[in-house]
Amino acid sequence: MKFFIDTASLKDIQEAQDLGILDGVTTNPSLMAKEGISGKNNIMRHYKAICDIVDGDVSAEVIATTFKEMITEGEELAEIDEQIVVKIPMIKDGIKAIKYFSERGIKTNCTLVFSAGQALLAAKAGATYVSPFVGRLDDISSDGMILIEDIRTIYDNYGFETQILAASVRHPLHILQCAKIGSDVMTGPLSAIMALLNHPLTDSGLAKFLADHAKANAK
Ligand code: E4P
Repeated sequence: MKFFIDTASLKDIQEAQDLGILDGVTTNPSLMAKEGISGKNNIMRHYKAICDIVDGDVSAEVIATTFKEMITEGEELAEIDEQIVVKIPMIKDGIKAIKYFSERGIKTNCTLVFSAGQALLAAKAGATYVSPFVGRLDDISSDGMILIEDIRTIYDNYGFETQILAASVRHPLHILQCAKIGSDVMTGPLSAIMALLNHPLTDSGLAKFLADHAKANAK
């Protein structure tokens, strides 16, 4: 399973990259705003800075919501770097835009997906990635992982090449559940990725090893 980090923070992206396990980055307008990035030129420069840190795909979301404007904005985003994936919302014009870009070899990520039917449409349009938001479904007492399972079944039934990018991942259990189901990618914050490192028996075991070594070598 590919690990993407869901942030616009260059510091967090660099930290995940330094760990050696990072396969890509997803951003959204809220995450860009959180980092204080505003204005077209600054936004474009920030995407380029992200691409310079990581080797893999970097999702950059369009603000436009009409077909024509999404095409113009998406083409500008795709020009920034070959790593850019144009992130497009799951709306009627978004599906048309995904089809347009897929026919031209421009990678897309269909975002704000909350149902298997939406994921089926995204795959039919040729999306490179589909982003079901597991955490936001959990937030409304709906099991986000059931959606990942349903999409996995549907895509496998027909051999769709669209990659399932489990989004809105919030904690390490989400990551493990995605891995067990067979999600192609998960995207989550640095905190969820780093939490995979932790186990109290690792900490106590290491402390004992080091203490025994120190005792034996003190003589
Ligand atoms: C998806 O790509 C979104 O950027 C993101 O995962 C949303 O996560 P949130 O629900 O934690 O805001």
